Amino acid sequence: MKLNSYKLSALVIFMLFCSGSLFSEEVPMQRLNNFAKNIEKFRAEEMGYPLNQNTDLKEFYQWYLKSKLYDVSLNNVGDPQQPSIYPMNTHEFENEVINFFAPLYGFSQDQAWGIVTHSGTDGNMHGMYFGAKVLLGKTKQLPIVYVSEEAHYSIKRIADVQNLELRLIPTDETGKMIISELEKALDPSKPALIVIAMGTTFKGAIDDQKAIDEVIKKKKPVAVYRHVDAALFGGYLPFTQYKDLVNRKVVPFDSIAVSGHKFFGFDEPMGIFITTKEIRNQTNPFKVSYLNEAVPTITCSRNALSALKFWWKIKKNGTKGFQQQAEAILKNAQYLEDELNKIGYKAWQNDYSNTVYFLRPSEKIMKKYTLAPEYDERLGGKMAHIVVMQHTTKNFIDEFIKDLKAEAKPHPDYLKKKDDKTKIPRHWH
Ligand SMILES: Cc1ncc(COP(=O)(O)O)c(C=O)c1O
Repeated sequence: MKLNSYKLSALVIFMLFCSGSLFSEEVPMQRLNNFAKNIEKFRAEEMGYPLNQNTDLKEFYQWYLKSKLYDVSLNNVGDPQQPSIYPMNTHEFENEVINFFAPLYGFSQDQAWGIVTHSGTDGNMHGMYFGAKVLLGKTKQLPIVYVSEEAHYSIKRIADVQNLELRLIPTDETGKMIISELEKALDPSKPALIVIAMGTTFKGAIDDQKAIDEVIKKKKPVAVYRHVDAALFGGYLPFTQYKDLVNRKVVPFDSIAVSGHKFFGFDEPMGIFITTKEIRNQTNPFKVSYLNEAVPTITCSRNALSALKFWWKIKKNGTKGFQQQAEAILKNAQYLEDELNKIGYKAWQNDYSNTVYFLRPSEKIMKKYTLAPEYDERLGGKMAHIVVMQHTTKNFIDEFIKDLKAEAKPHPDYLKKKDDKTKIPRHWH
């Protein structure tokens, strides 16, 4: 068959159209490959942030590619416990994730309401918003937020966003809220929104919930809501002998926020927020007719894929897997502190914590291990910490100690104590 030029160009256009190249640009793959290689380099030596780098999601992505779900716009918009008009969601899996965690924090499954969040901050935002709404409903007054000075900055930011009065309570050297300062600051004529730090970001300090309760009993504020920020510790504590620290049947609280990407290890930020149905019903959910329900969530669209990944992780690890990982990080954190003590390097570790903090080493070491800087005059000024996660193995710690030993001189306080034969304090209690 002979093709004239008109027919030939029509054929070429048809072929280009079929291959999609008429409408798509060539993606510069080399750039992406270089980027990925670079990230891998950092990943191999990161130990300064509360992120579990053993994300281990290969099988999940293999299934995902096979399922062709990348061709679908999934969205968990709406209340996962209510029927949804938009059917391409993973609410069913999201509810199973919440049902897995609810009893671990002392919520019964039929009493609990929760969501898979975008992050720990998103969980704190829901906790503080729900708290403010509940307290306003009860007392017709906006609450005052009480939180420790060393709590995560998201609490301070959210109080600002909600235009709530914030009272920062001073901390002791270990990072814990000073209870007598809370007592001084608490105004009983106003409702109290108390945010409990369950593991501060830098020192891993846990506020004394029982002592906070004693203050509440003594000062009797008009109404109280307790939100627990357990971004990192809320991930591993339920799988240890210290599980009662996050059990509301033992230490009462109204809601809890936990990050998913910290202890559990994901390739993107996510988290969980859990409270009770009773509280959810007091938050004045907005009626949204196109979503078929009264919607209590702050964010409209929510990530459906993260709920699916969380569900996957729970099935893959089970309680036993999480217990083994929790045990390993605490054991390795103790190992790190012991090794630092052995070389006379001043270091601290709070009880129940996988975070070891110490005097700041050289910039070279800070950079190599992606360590986070902090400053605390009370402990000697410039500080750094290591958050011992699942990828922070003994070998990895040994490599760090070797580098540190090569450049660090023993801390003078330690030398003096060794001469005196007095015991070096290992933990703050
Ligand atoms: C104690 C604490 N709360 C909240 C957050 C914020 O969590 P996310 O980064 O998941 O928003 C962090 C993050 O490091 C944290 O350490």
